[in-house]
Amino acid sequence: MCGIVGYTGTKQAYPIIIKGLKRLEYRGYDSTGVALLNSGLKVFKKKGKVAELEETLVGEDLHGFAGIGHTRWATHGEPNDQNAHPHQSSSGKLAMIHNGIIENYASLKKELISKGYNFTSDTDSEVLLNFIEEIKTKNNCDLEEAIRIALKRVVGAYVILLIDEDNPGTIIAARKGSPLVIGIGKNEHFLGSDASPMLEYTKEVVYVNDYELAIVKPNELILKNLGNEILTPFVQKLDIELAAIEKGGFDYFMLKEIYEQPTTIFDCLRGRLDVENGTIQMAGVQDNLDKLINANRIIILACGTSWHAGLIAEYIFEELCRTSVEVEYASEFRYRNPIIIPGDVIIAISQSGETADTLVAIENAKEKGAFIFGIVNVVGSSIARTSHAGAYTHAGSEIGVASTKAFTAQLAVLTMVALKIAKEKNTISNERYRSCLNELNDVPVKVSKILESNDLIKSIAEKYKNFTNFLYLGRGYNFPIALEGALKLKEISYIHASGYPAAEMKHGPIALVDDSLPVVFIATKDSNIEKTISNMQEIKARKGKIISIITENDESAISVSNELIAVPAADEIVAPMLNVIPLQLLAYYIGIAKGCDVDKPRNLAKSVTVE
Ligand code: AGP
Ligand code: GLU
Repeated sequence: MCGIVGYTGTKQAYPIIIKGLKRLEYRGYDSTGVALLNSGLKVFKKKGKVAELEETLVGEDLHGFAGIGHTRWATHGEPNDQNAHPHQSSSGKLAMIHNGIIENYASLKKELISKGYNFTSDTDSEVLLNFIEEIKTKNNCDLEEAIRIALKRVVGAYVILLIDEDNPGTIIAARKGSPLVIGIGKNEHFLGSDASPMLEYTKEVVYVNDYELAIVKPNELILKNLGNEILTPFVQKLDIELAAIEKGGFDYFMLKEIYEQPTTIFDCLRGRLDVENGTIQMAGVQDNLDKLINANRIIILACGTSWHAGLIAEYIFEELCRTSVEVEYASEFRYRNPIIIPGDVIIAISQSGETADTLVAIENAKEKGAFIFGIVNVVGSSIARTSHAGAYTHAGSEIGVASTKAFTAQLAVLTMVALKIAKEKNTISNERYRSCLNELNDVPVKVSKILESNDLIKSIAEKYKNFTNFLYLGRGYNFPIALEGALKLKEISYIHASGYPAAEMKHGPIALVDDSLPVVFIATKDSNIEKTISNMQEIKARKGKIISIITENDESAISVSNELIAVPAADEIVAPMLNVIPLQLLAYYIGIAKGCDVDKPRNLAKSVTVE
């Protein structure tokens, strides 16, 4: 969950590293630091964001052609100057940055202390660094060999970048479970947690795999496995543009990404959905149809917002494909001893493709014989590469920590996969099938129409920004949207919010209702609308303030609502992609009104690559 950057080449390393850290700050930002090689090893680090570190370095000698940088999301040791990365070894000759968790750091630390080592931080990372140095000294071997030996004893997840005062210009990197990309330049190389720090310099990249080690010099990249065998780097060409990761005139990435959704949903459908010919082209599905149509059940594994997408997929797949679906939190699934039977299909949903719990959950399921279908946004990410097959969501780089455009793109892909399977299984009439294709095709334009309610939603946010608790309620396909709306508000504005099935209110939560409780109802015109209106009456009778998402021209909820936000009519199957938009904007504007950093909310990070 941290951001790592490295550079070695003919340019000054510091400007490249510090700009790269800013691009990665969405991954974690409680402290940050840089280490440079220039007539000796220099380490600068402190608690706080990259800009704060930058301010303290004015006037420092920051020359150097090689260096590493880190933005931290603390797992071991509170956010402070000492626990910030890079860490320096006891000899002072090595510096290291680390993304991940060393599970067996305590036993290693005990071993090192018994050998006279002292530690300046509380982190697991500093233990790993000194463990490497201990091996290097004791075995009188080079740093590369010491790293290889050390990593064979390490339990946990890591990406590490090390630089050595005695080998200026060389960066040694290794990964297991956390992401690492190496950019190939002319007499220079770049390293990063993702491609954003290197994009303006090169589009040729190598995605490092688990248990691989890279020796990176200005004009040489050597890739090896932990068995010291040389591997051939697989160089890929990126098709992301720099502008795509800039804010494009919006105040925050989150608002930019909310407004990108007409385009990103269109991009997700393009080349796949052919309304005229009534076809859906998805190679990952087509090539594995037998497994998908004969699945005795589908288990969906995900976390957070992606888990909400899975809940909606459960309704879609069971309605269209008549396939039994179970939706599991990946973090729970992986620690149970789940029953996987031959013929099970796992659908893994992940924006980053690096969520540790989801990655390990599918690795475990794969070992038990399940077929893994990944629905991922980041091309080449670990979950994408671990899956047997899959479909990318093509939502582009999602920088804002709160997932918005990736969520609606996930729903678009899941709907297409379900329609394709239902068509093959003949569990859907041709009329309904063609109607759903048309409904999908109309989503981008309808999302654009909803965005026109921006100012109305902003005014509602102003009105309700000081309430301290919210309820979000919906039925059927709108229940997971209630959960998603509540999560958006929580993670962006730090206001407590809960989502429930509307019918669940009478089983306890209605005790919360009084005139200090705003209740957001997703009350669009669907098969549940009458029952939803009854629930709204129950809230109204107890003086709850009702903010309603309704279908335009549907008057059934008007008399019970304090606030109304209308969305275009749509089939239940695609309605979640529309109904979530006002909730994204509501959370965004309440967060802004409360002065929150909506792109980098406190305590959070964009990709949870630690467990
Ligand atoms: C969503 O707004 C949150 N940022 C978080 O719940 C996120 O959805 C979750 O961590 C899963 O991430 P993934 O989709 O990258 O696996
Ligand atoms: N476990 C390390 C620490 O707490 C690295 C955390 C991260 O990945 O940012 O410093």
